[in-house]
Amino acid sequence: MKFKRLDRQSEAIKKEIKEKLSEVLESCTFIQGPNVKILEQELADFVGVDSCITCANGTDALVLAIKALDIKKNDVVFVPDFTFVASAEAIVLANAIPVFVDVDIETMTMDPKDLEEKIKIVQATMTWHPKAILTVDLFGNLCDYEAIEKVAKRYDLLIIEDAAQAFGSEYQGKKAGSLGIIGTTSFFPAKNVGCYGDGGAVFTNDPAIAEKIRSFANHGREENQFCYRRIGMNSRLDEMQAAILRVKLKHFKNSEIDRMKRNEGQLLQIQQAVQKAQPNCMIVRSQFTIRCRTQQERRELQKQFDKAGIPTMIYYSMPLSEQKAFEPFNALFAQKRSNSNTKKLCQCVLSVPFDAYLLEEEIEKIKRVLNESK
Ligand SMILES: Cc1ncc(COP(=O)(O)O)c(C=O)c1O
Repeated sequence: MKFKRLDRQSEAIKKEIKEKLSEVLESCTFIQGPNVKILEQELADFVGVDSCITCANGTDALVLAIKALDIKKNDVVFVPDFTFVASAEAIVLANAIPVFVDVDIETMTMDPKDLEEKIKIVQATMTWHPKAILTVDLFGNLCDYEAIEKVAKRYDLLIIEDAAQAFGSEYQGKKAGSLGIIGTTSFFPAKNVGCYGDGGAVFTNDPAIAEKIRSFANHGREENQFCYRRIGMNSRLDEMQAAILRVKLKHFKNSEIDRMKRNEGQLLQIQQAVQKAQPNCMIVRSQFTIRCRTQQERRELQKQFDKAGIPTMIYYSMPLSEQKAFEPFNALFAQKRSNSNTKKLCQCVLSVPFDAYLLEEEIEKIKRVLNESK
């Protein structure tokens, strides 16, 4: 068994992809061509926002989003401690300070109560200034946006939504990527919708922010080709990836979401503690993650999966706040022994194979290992 069956997906859509790629080759337009433009409209329509700006990857999408907020010296962006490194790395790359917030043990997404506590601690410093909240829709699950929005309003903070792992998920009928002032996603191959290389996108309803991000992503360029208003970067999605993504988006909408929901339904029959979906949401899980009771229990379970020839992954094994790279930003919280849920999850989570192309007998095999280990 494999952890993700990109090979099965590739086999199913190969013919369409080859046709689209040969059109691009014939056109000889490789950057900022028609596929990028049409894809941006298709993505904006799907996510339900006015503007989509594609870019080189999901990390750049976050950097562009944070830069668009006019970050000043000592501005703080709050980010969950339990996420992929890019969520926090982007904050530093955009010249802001990351402050790590604990997550809810069951949903594994940002805990609004701890968020408020961390905001108060930052406010008390008088030197660091709370600026924004970067929420992460972990493994496809959504955050408690109702509660986080209340905190954001109370402290006059903006929300940036990192929806890299949750493309297609819906919170009270609104799509992931549309839940903050700016949303971002990644098209890394293993994501819910992935390209055949790197890619990313930014979503917003604010026309001024959209214009700024488009300019940042293209060397700080104005409308006029050789006028530069700001220091920007080169972060563009290319025509080949855009052509591939148009095919992938179509299959995702037409059949893959349904198949993922069907597979999820079958896997949810297990007795273990599965990551709990946020209430009133339709989540498209990018990872199917369970929580063991102890680290020892996880070790045993991993051995059982190994023996059965089923690959598993640990996302994530270390809180970001404990990573060497973020040491310079952690002095304020070092003695507090905070983020206990994140620490526990790092010891106990385990992700099993999950996607739209998992076969019924493979799901049964995964369930058997879990049932026998109970
Ligand atoms: C939550 C999260 N944010 C950001 C990223 C960065 O995306 P990319 O790998 O496309 O730079 C990823 C994924 O890889 C991710 O999982």
